[in-house]
Amino acid sequence: MLVSAREMLTKARDGKYAVGQFNINNLEWTKAVLLTAEELKSPVILGVSEGAGKYMGGYKTVVGMVNGLLEELNITVPVALHLDHGSYEGAKKCILAGFSSVMFDGSHYPIAENVQKTTELVNACNILGLSLEAEVGSIGGEEDGVVGLGECADPNECKMIADLGVTMLAAGIGNIHGKYPENWPGLSFETLAAVKEKVGDMPLVLHGGTGIPADMIKKAISLGVAKINVNTECQLAFAEATRQYIEAGKDQQGKGFDPRKLLAPGFEAIKATVKEKMELFGSVGKA
Ligand code: 13P
Repeated sequence: MLVSAREMLTKARDGKYAVGQFNINNLEWTKAVLLTAEELKSPVILGVSEGAGKYMGGYKTVVGMVNGLLEELNITVPVALHLDHGSYEGAKKCILAGFSSVMFDGSHYPIAENVQKTTELVNACNILGLSLEAEVGSIGGEEDGVVGLGECADPNECKMIADLGVTMLAAGIGNIHGKYPENWPGLSFETLAAVKEKVGDMPLVLHGGTGIPADMIKKAISLGVAKINVNTECQLAFAEATRQYIEAGKDQQGKGFDPRKLLAPGFEAIKATVKEKMELFGSVGKA
């Protein structure tokens, strides 16, 4: 059964480790993440972007697929199904579709509007026992080929949003989605410490987990980060494993283009990536 992310993140914060959020794109991805979590006895969060939700056939399809896998694969570790960077409308749809956790990314709204919309969603999530992630300070990333450096959140604005009763808070600390550019100055631990000072016990979320050096990840966890999002690294691993398989000409042997054979190397590559991250984040054995 899907669970809210509240309890797993409270435990992670207290135990000084982080729960990984791995974004899913299809059945193979979802199975790879769930089976790895079960093997390693780690709690896990499945992230679904609005685009991935649409790709997989809609939020209800995703909920059906994940619930089916939890039951048929006998997954016993805590699993949250979480909307990643949701719009206000997207968050409401996922709440109705059966997600156990949602992120409302209101970071691009003026703070007053971010507060108002977040408040409405806090109320809905509280009634239904779902967890809610809010964002302050936008996380940079590549848009139209230009990589924007991540913003640093205003700690006072973080406190305003945290005080609304959200479960976890994503504060921009110079992190970005996708690959980090050569001139990336690194995470702003100054900002992270200032945010932590203002928001107290609120579990913090680090987006853009791909490509952040291990020592920075560990330091971020020591300063209150309890959830780390990873997407691009699984995509790269999947693409590279599939490319190698095709280039080796293996897809033309035996059963030819059997999709189950074609997708198998990518599936294994995602499992390996998720394992490596769970070990780095310290969540192994914490289920
Ligand atoms: P990466 O794609 O950089 O791993 O970031 C994932 C993320 O933060 C999803 O919200």
